[in-house]
Amino acid sequence: MPSKDRLHRSELAVPGSNPRMLEKASTLGADVVFMDLEDAVAPAEKEEARKHVIRALTHHDWSRCAVSVRINGLDTPYCYRDIVEVVEQAGKRIDTLLIPKVNAPADILFVATLLAQIESSKGLKPIGIHALIETARGMANIEDIAATCPERLEALVFGVADFAASTQARVTTMGGANPDYAVLTHSDDDGVRARHWNDQWHYALSRLVVACRAYGLRPIDGPFSEIQDPDGYRVAARAAAALGVEGKWAIHPSQIALANEVFTPTEAEVARARRILAAMAEAASKGQGAVMLDGRMLDAASIRQAEVVVAKMERIEAREEMVA
Ligand code: GLV
Ligand code: MG
Repeated sequence: MPSKDRLHRSELAVPGSNPRMLEKASTLGADVVFMDLEDAVAPAEKEEARKHVIRALTHHDWSRCAVSVRINGLDTPYCYRDIVEVVEQAGKRIDTLLIPKVNAPADILFVATLLAQIESSKGLKPIGIHALIETARGMANIEDIAATCPERLEALVFGVADFAASTQARVTTMGGANPDYAVLTHSDDDGVRARHWNDQWHYALSRLVVACRAYGLRPIDGPFSEIQDPDGYRVAARAAAALGVEGKWAIHPSQIALANEVFTPTEAEVARARRILAAMAEAASKGQGAVMLDGRMLDAASIRQAEVVVAKMERIEAREEMVA
């Protein structure tokens, strides 16, 4: 079975064409590293990048993070060789393949079928799949995609840049705020109208979260292009986390700590979750289904929310002990 509860707060993108960055990637504190053979690599460098990725997988220590390889899209001439060459030669150390521009369940099944053959020929353990949802068709088919290949599919990632291209959305930055996506309030008593910016990606990301949670997958948010804007990154990540997203890409090492911070429950959240569980256990022992805590009504749904927070923290603590 795939590792559905893999810790996935931060996912560092590393160009497969850059051996120096591939070498450093595992030491930077990301929960997941993906080596990119797709859009960060120019067509003329595709073959060389595969070799760099294979070398990095087989020569460096990847015990401190999960490792994914982003293959080229199924509509390119590179895809099948990416899978065959990289998995045959370095499949032992690959946790997941990241498939870009997934349009339909058949895309997942194609990769899964190839993986099954290579795994059985090379005696490898099963490799999981992460799927980028970044086309209008992929979003239109997202529930069917999420339900495909439960024995491999672990996570769906929202690829905002390609999604904007595919839907012909007007954007100013990749994954950032857009002043065009706003509403103007009515005039107040002084005739002043306020302009409120909204989140252009709310629908797409919400839909991805629901599709993922319906089928036991991790919802992951994609890139934020403004690497000089940590505040903007934090706000985008916090908005995603508020919807239920579990982690976000880091397209620069400086974004890793931001993602880990945002997607780790705060001490106050964990303490409150533990108090809720204690209060509900006490209520249950008295035969009560609901109780008041700090002026708020709690019921069985509060237990489920608190359990999510505590379970997440336990996984984070276990990882921190493992890498310490
Ligand atoms: C990621 O691949 C994106 O297109 O945003
Ligand atoms: Mg993309």
